[in-house]
Amino acid sequence: MAKDPVRVLVTGAAGQIGYALVPMIARGVMLGADQPVILHMLDIPPAAEALSGVKMELVDAAFPLLKGVVATTDVVEACKGVNIAVMVGGFPRKEGMERKDVMSKNVSIYKSQASALEAHAAANCKVLVVANPANTNALILKEFAPSIPEKNITCLTRLDHNRALGQVSERLSVQISDVKNVIIWGNHSSTQYPDVTHATVKTSAGEKTVRELVADDAWLNGEFISTVQQRGAAIIKARKFSSALSAASSACDHIRDWVVGTPEGTWVSMGVYSDGSYDVPAGLIYSFPVTCKNGEWSIVQGLSIDDFSRNKLNKTAEELSEEKALAYSCLA
Ligand code: NAD
Ligand code: LMR
Repeated sequence: MAKDPVRVLVTGAAGQIGYALVPMIARGVMLGADQPVILHMLDIPPAAEALSGVKMELVDAAFPLLKGVVATTDVVEACKGVNIAVMVGGFPRKEGMERKDVMSKNVSIYKSQASALEAHAAANCKVLVVANPANTNALILKEFAPSIPEKNITCLTRLDHNRALGQVSERLSVQISDVKNVIIWGNHSSTQYPDVTHATVKTSAGEKTVRELVADDAWLNGEFISTVQQRGAAIIKARKFSSALSAASSACDHIRDWVVGTPEGTWVSMGVYSDGSYDVPAGLIYSFPVTCKNGEWSIVQGLSIDDFSRNKLNKTAEELSEEKALAYSCLA
């Protein structure tokens, strides 16, 4: 029997990531090749015409799984009955703007969209925040939508996770699908900590650790970390726009694994509400290694953390605490 369609909201749908993401969702990349979808696309009035163009293209692409499209600038209409919300919309940093100015605009957007989601989304709607500052926007959304379970509000660090897999795969000339269990800890920012301590590679001689295969701690503790931390900036420098296809693809990975589950023995990185695991302060949206089953994520417990890692986990947590304080000062 055919499945009922799932309603997926994409905010900022007329933007770059939106334009890459909506066809992926309509093709089944996010929820599977047998899962019909109804797309809800939200943008702001100045982007309404561009949004209507995206809707025309979705019709023209004749996606068999796409059972409907709502394209609107009305946040209430956009949020009605959605089962999954991918929050990409936001105010980009412009020349001359301070961090506080951009934070102030975005946390206000996330505060008001939290209320709309809380009032109009389907019960148990899963939320993924992509727009920067992603962790803090997600935290504000969580705090201003108190009836949405905190486990349902996450932010995207899967792109950073995938970037770390990519760097290891390139360095070792191995298939990316043979590398697993890297971790992104903390903020989706340059203080994030890409950690390979527990990462492994499948080889013809069995599973080996990334550390033994790379055999170059200076690279793993130095250039590897800074390359992943700075990858977003490198893409902006090269493309003059921020990453879009990789962000869209990683957003699909994040939701697919959350809904369908992670493979046995494999974890992924997600920005989730911290519960004090690994001595990360509770009450931040912080990226942890997680496994997913039956539509729920759980933080992987019991991993060893050495002094090098501890300092890095703390540093990115400190930045998130500062961002949280700044966000609240902007809303005051
Ligand atoms: P973009 O500027 O091309 O698109 C953003 C869209 O959001 C625009 O169409 C804009 O009109 C819309 N928008 C603005 N305010 C809105 C509101 N209140 N409601 C709905 N829509 C609104 O930007 P982009 O390249 O698509 O990137 C989107 C965001 O994602 C940025 O904040 C970017 O920094 C972030 N990003 C995050 C990651 C990650 O891994 N977490 C990766 C790449 C980019
Ligand atoms: C990325 O990681 O590619 C983006 O978050 C960069 C940015 O600042 O938009």
